[in-house]
Amino acid sequence: MKRKKIIAGNWKLNMNQAQTRDFLKEVSGKLSADDLNAIEAIVCPPFTSIAAAGETIKEANLKIAVGAQNLSQHQSGAYTGEINAEMLKELGISSVLVGHSERRETFAEDDSVIKAKLNTGLEAGLNVILCCGESEATREVGDTDKWVAGQIASALEGLSLTDFASRVTIAYEPIWAIGTGKVCDSAEANRVCAMIRSKLAEILDQASADATRILYGGSVKSSNVDEIIAQSDIDGALVGGASIKVEEFPALVASAARESAKAVA
Ligand code: 13P
Repeated sequence: MKRKKIIAGNWKLNMNQAQTRDFLKEVSGKLSADDLNAIEAIVCPPFTSIAAAGETIKEANLKIAVGAQNLSQHQSGAYTGEINAEMLKELGISSVLVGHSERRETFAEDDSVIKAKLNTGLEAGLNVILCCGESEATREVGDTDKWVAGQIASALEGLSLTDFASRVTIAYEPIWAIGTGKVCDSAEANRVCAMIRSKLAEILDQASADATRILYGGSVKSSNVDEIIAQSDIDGALVGGASIKVEEFPALVASAARESAKAVA
């Protein structure tokens, strides 16, 4: 099954508007239009830099989509500090991250909040990158598969979408590999991604599971991306730290494009 590769950059709490413009202008000279056409490249800046990212990408004529890192599960009302899906759509974004471990842990978003955010984003017409992944403690006791499958099942429960695979992407991000430099062994990451795919087949149907992109995230950089992205059930990467480095982001895009070309050949 040929699935278009994705390189998605999660900029986290980095990059103000000026830095966003400078970064995108700098990388535009290092990105090949053919590579960008061969894959789906996404950047997810902080809310306040989304418009600057969109404008700079347009000016530089780059095929990069802009996503958001979060959204409110609420539509409107007394929710101080929140931003809703329609407000994000107004900024022209294509997708939104939901269920990132930093939101789950630091901001105490539980499964029900994540489910509500997923539904709200999808109902507004946004595509969702649903993140999942186990802690080191969960892995050590051998509960990785049960934990990750549970996160997926909980988020997707009752969801009815005819175009699931084009609207939802899964990102497997083992927490212990995020920002630590400890990348998950590529064969093991592939095994978990294949397990997620079989869970999707169980919840949805085989065709949807086969068409859904599943990304790996956790300390991905240019020196390890080739091996990760070559795995049979890994369709790209969700990248933090390396995605805001001028030398790294174009290298990640180029790696995904090379892998796509191989898959065609
Ligand atoms: P790092 O690539 O910095 O490990 O972050 C991964 C991540 O959390 C992407 O969402």
